Amino acid sequence: MAPAWIGETRAGKNASRDGLLDGPMLEACGDVRGLRVLDCGCGEGRFCRMLVERGAEYALGLDLCEPMIRAAQELAGGKDEYRQADVQDLGFLEDASFDHAVSYLNQCDLPDFAANTREVFRVLRPGGRFVVANLHPMRSATGEWQRTEDGTKQHFILDRYFNEGERHWKMMEIDFTNFHRTLSTYLDAYLSAGFRIDRIIEPTVTPENLKRYPGLDDELRVPNFIVFVLGKPMG
Ligand SMILES: C[S@@+](CC[C@H](N)C(=O)[O-])C[C@H]1O[C@@H](n2cnc3c(N)ncnc32)[C@H](O)[C@@H]1O
Repeated sequence: MAPAWIGETRAGKNASRDGLLDGPMLEACGDVRGLRVLDCGCGEGRFCRMLVERGAEYALGLDLCEPMIRAAQELAGGKDEYRQADVQDLGFLEDASFDHAVSYLNQCDLPDFAANTREVFRVLRPGGRFVVANLHPMRSATGEWQRTEDGTKQHFILDRYFNEGERHWKMMEIDFTNFHRTLSTYLDAYLSAGFRIDRIIEPTVTPENLKRYPGLDDELRVPNFIVFVLGKPMG
């Protein structure tokens, strides 16, 4: 999926990022000036670049997908670096070596998101923040819109919510697999790793963004995403 993804992102056509999630994600990250930031599942590096633009001292983007990492490296300035790695094992990073971490729609791709959570906890310094954007568990449990015969969207059927595991989708005409988990599974893993849960955001589209991206009107009806703001306690 990497070439299609990179093309769409760089053409500024990714409505769910630009029109929906970027605002809440940047707000949740807060003031990143002077911080060392880790981005788990950075894709082609767009969020690392955004954090560097906002003053991060250093951003390390990790992704399993080599074409994504190559694309990210092509646009790297002096303060962002990219490395091909599995974010479920950060053994190559030192304890407490980052001030801030993000996971922008990556944990739903991971067979063991709890391992990633524990590893991020380890590499963050006390007082550091981990901002996780994920598929909303209500949304990842469901299938597609139920439609009338003329194609009008009616509703989603929420089903198989407690049946955690793989879900198979199509995006950009390409089959892919990710994972559905319940809300309590996510929260339990964050708390067990030692994080505080400072905030939960359920992004929806603002009136201004709806004007720019009318196709996001669905977001006023069904939650697609959720953002967890996690804190590593000081001591
Ligand atoms: C939905 S994309 C999000 C990319 C980027 N964060 C963004 O918002 O544009 C998820 C990314 O997670 C990466 N990924 C999936 N499993 C991974 C793993 N085990 N370790 C590191 N990256 C992984 C994929 O290659 C993909 O680039």
